[in-house]
Amino acid sequence: TYPGFPCKPSSLVVSDDFFFAAHASGASTDNPNGAGVTPGNVEAFPGLNTLGLSINRVDLAPGGVNPLHTHPRSAELVHVEAGEMLVGFVSTEGRFYSKVVRAGESFVIPRGMMHFQYNVGAGAARAMTVFNSQLPGVVLAAQSLFGAEPEIPDAVLAKSFQVDADTIKLLKSKFRKG
Ligand code: GLV
Ligand code: MN
Repeated sequence: TYPGFPCKPSSLVVSDDFFFAAHASGASTDNPNGAGVTPGNVEAFPGLNTLGLSINRVDLAPGGVNPLHTHPRSAELVHVEAGEMLVGFVSTEGRFYSKVVRAGESFVIPRGMMHFQYNVGAGAARAMTVFNSQLPGVVLAAQSLFGAEPEIPDAVLAKSFQVDADTIKLLKSKFRKG
């Protein structure tokens, strides 16, 4: 169940096809979440094609959060390289599992579970996240519910979340562009 990408003819393959330098620096965290994710999936790093793995870099400003999301095609191993982050996910039974994870430590998120990383340290935090898919896919919870184009009807969201339409409109105002 992963999207196919063509392979290069082997006679044209060079060492640089197996090399990826984009994680030497981090993405900006100057945004409302205080988070920057630099993807290292097969689209960014074509040498991963057919290998069934990929890697992201996650940078978090103090207090920053990589917001709640899922990966439909992959588990995720979070390896913290700097700082301290609360890493958590919710299981299919509705149980919340979390740990404060520090530099050199890891936490694993089973495939498809809703999860986040939240910087609970004093300084910046950084993690590498490793996936058993070359293209894990990402579904951002708030963005997909309140920022969908065209929009999900207010009545559907209000009934789903058992709140009034004004609450839904407020949430949509944060996640919809127009
Ligand atoms: C972190 O959760 C990531 O998806 O890179
Ligand atoms: Mn993730």
